[in-house]
Amino acid sequence: MEELRVKRRIVLVPVPAQGHVTPIMQLGKALYSKGFSITVVLTQYNRVSSSKDFSDFHFLTIPGSLTESDLKNLGPFKFLFKLNQICEAGFKQCIGQLLQEQGNDIACVVYDEYMYFSQAAVKEFQLPSVLFSTTSATAFVCRSVLSRVDAESFLLDMKDPKVSDKVFPGLHPLRYKDLPTSAFGPIESILKVYSETVNIRTASAVIINSTSCLENSSLAWLQRELQVPVYPIGPLHIAASAPSSLLEEDMSCIEWLNKQKLGSVIYISLGSLALMETKDVLEMAWGLSNSNQPFLWVIRPGSIPGSEWTESLPEGFSKLVAERGYIVKWAPQMEVLRHPAVGGFWSHCGWNSTLESIGEGVPMICRPFTGDQKVNARYLERVWRIGVQLEGELDKGTVERAVERLLVDEEGVEMRKRAIDLKEKLEASVRSKGSSCSSLNNFVSSLKMKNFM
Ligand code: UDX
Repeated sequence: MEELRVKRRIVLVPVPAQGHVTPIMQLGKALYSKGFSITVVLTQYNRVSSSKDFSDFHFLTIPGSLTESDLKNLGPFKFLFKLNQICEAGFKQCIGQLLQEQGNDIACVVYDEYMYFSQAAVKEFQLPSVLFSTTSATAFVCRSVLSRVDAESFLLDMKDPKVSDKVFPGLHPLRYKDLPTSAFGPIESILKVYSETVNIRTASAVIINSTSCLENSSLAWLQRELQVPVYPIGPLHIAASAPSSLLEEDMSCIEWLNKQKLGSVIYISLGSLALMETKDVLEMAWGLSNSNQPFLWVIRPGSIPGSEWTESLPEGFSKLVAERGYIVKWAPQMEVLRHPAVGGFWSHCGWNSTLESIGEGVPMICRPFTGDQKVNARYLERVWRIGVQLEGELDKGTVERAVERLLVDEEGVEMRKRAIDLKEKLEASVRSKGSSCSSLNNFVSSLKMKNFM
């Protein structure tokens, strides 16, 4: 392949949500360190901070895109559809303006798979583009499979407990009920969004925030199916750490952790979107308290419907928490997971949280809420064997037992060993000559080739 005069600008198009912003900004940092200039194109609902950590990046806003109140009114799925409709013209305008002002130095447009409107502009201006997947490779495989099923019969299967407990053909060990269906919308909309996200259109490559030591067979499946190079370059939080928390982190929890015994604390966080029913919060508090283990619990404002924060919970809740617990609105999660007092992570199993926990060798209690989290939870329990999944109704007895299994029993010790083994593999994969490091270098080299498009 012939080498081109190397173009030096990479345009990033993130989804305005924490779980998507974090990895794409880390990718930006990784590419910046390879000598590229980074332009981040935001929607008006801006969830990216152009803080000092990103002072070397250039930021643009798509004119006329949706706002935070649109998200509240429409809900995530309708918001996504509308965002993709509405941003198409504005994004073309942004790219047109960028080309005019800077000349054509765009090496490629890297867009989050959910921001598929980007493709109209790259087609019009004949720019190379790359799809960036912020979920696991296995979740991508599932979305591809789901995008081809018949919505009606799939819905019937999901409603039949005899079927939904069975392994989905070809996706072992995932059961029907582990597939990434969503709590945020009807199945028809979900399958429609999925078929948009897995349609790579004119993208020349796919970048995934994962690594071969975690998902070799899913990555191979994608490589076969997609017919463009697939670059697993993760975990990005180890390869290129870039602080991009959208909420203020309460650092007081680190002081609290400093006072706890080694490996004794269960850290609980359900990410940036998941919601909790009051009755589940109470069962959790009860079970955690009965387990006699200290716990650090992130309760995001607004995550308990009908409550600003925790004020609607009965008085008994504060009593249960007071003795052994510490509650914050948002934690410095990476620091928490790295803290020697933390012995386990109760998580909704978002892909970032999953990678961060494995990256610190911390075993997990898995309580997925929606979408790809269910896939990750099943893999944590059955494939990597470093998690205990809580299924069905939550009750204090199961909560207590899960905490004991993770933090007290021999089973937990074994899980911790496997988690530490995986942590070492992840670290090796992003080091020089590791698979993810080589994958990133191969991607960068491919940008210099004439037929990258
Ligand atoms: C969403 C989806 O739910 C997830 O399944 C998908 O893979 C990505 O988009 P989210 O629910 O926010 O993400 O979960 P997750 O992917 O785990 O990301 C949450 C991020 O917020 C993590 O990077 C975590 O470190 C950070 N976080 C969370 C904090 O910094 N502090 C907290 O208190 C809680």
